[in-house]
Amino acid sequence: MTNRAFNDAFLKACRKEAVPHVPVWYMRQAGRYQPEYRAIRQQYSFFEINENPEVCAQVTRLPVEQLGVDAAILFADIMTPIKTIGVDVRIVEGKGPVISNPVRALADVKRLGDLAPERDLPYIRETIRLLREQLSVPLIGFAGAPFTLASYLIEGGPSKDYHKTKGFMYSRPQEWQALMDKLAAVTIAYLSWQIEAGAQAVQVFDSWVGSVASDDYEKYIAPTMMNIFAEIRKTGVPTIYFGSGTAHLLKIWNQLPVDVLSVDWRISIDEVRELGIDKALQGNLDPSMLLAPWEALIEKVKAIVDQGKKKPGYIFNLGHGVFPEADAAVLKRLTDWIHEYTKAEAVKERVES
Ligand code: CP3
Repeated sequence: MTNRAFNDAFLKACRKEAVPHVPVWYMRQAGRYQPEYRAIRQQYSFFEINENPEVCAQVTRLPVEQLGVDAAILFADIMTPIKTIGVDVRIVEGKGPVISNPVRALADVKRLGDLAPERDLPYIRETIRLLREQLSVPLIGFAGAPFTLASYLIEGGPSKDYHKTKGFMYSRPQEWQALMDKLAAVTIAYLSWQIEAGAQAVQVFDSWVGSVASDDYEKYIAPTMMNIFAEIRKTGVPTIYFGSGTAHLLKIWNQLPVDVLSVDWRISIDEVRELGIDKALQGNLDPSMLLAPWEALIEKVKAIVDQGKKKPGYIFNLGHGVFPEADAAVLKRLTDWIHEYTKAEAVKERVES
């Protein structure tokens, strides 16, 4: 099992080193678009999969084996650690995490417990141990960022406008900071636990932070993110920061001690670099393009990859997660196409020079 050559293209790209081909992986690459995943979900609830190391490792490996991607991402949810600190979370089909006891006041913040990974998340360590034996690509660990976690805690579930979350932030800045500090401690403990167990990179998902204006982000959120990435940087493991609709935040993100910025399709890779962003980049195909005819899809992907590979430090991904209507065969063909296209380029350059 361990004698296959280890494919480190993804880790090299995180560090802005030369790569044999552009590395590819997909956010939410394990999920309901896969018939095999749906079959496993018939037998187990979401958190039962998460808490059963053998099944969880199998679900994590599925897309790696089927699509030939250059990285695996631990199968879990951003609410996995939150569930252990006294919050009653359920994952509701087609909706997402739903919470019966939302956080709406300082007393609610105070009743949140501390994360003790050894006690609360031993199964995560075991899943990661198994995966490190089984995989020949790097394993990405992940956590939700405090703003995005807070949005579920405060709204009580998914939201379109985050009025309650931002209302809390604007009207009770001290209580907001107490909540950010609590969630930052959870995030740091959880990521450190995954890294200790063997995660080779970590991604912080701040899916909904694009809803915040840039000056407010600087005031209410950036110090917390600075703290998280500064702590994780000490481990030496590459870090990725993801958000959707965050073009207006990228200049601030460029100042954070994070290695890779993951951007969505609302801004092009060229435009990101024109802003003066000098970090490694990940992205940014509109997931809806997976439903387009192959020719249109590839025209778009070629444009993205041509921009990305102009500089070292580029990872192909979607601008947001794979969704249930996506077709695994299209993702497989796309992965192969990018590998082939960018490998050919590298060979051509060697011949010409
Ligand atoms: O990428 C992977 O393969 C790893 C697994 C992963 C899941 N959730 C599994 C999951 C990851 C990285 C996440 C992160 C996550 N969870 C985010 C950040 C990324 C993003 O998409 O913005 C967010 C906001 C959540 C919260 C959440 N959990 C949502 C929005 C949903 C989907 C709701 C739905 O049903 O469409 C979930 C549930 C969830 N998490 C599913 C999976 C595979 C589907 C539910 C199921 O299997 O029953």
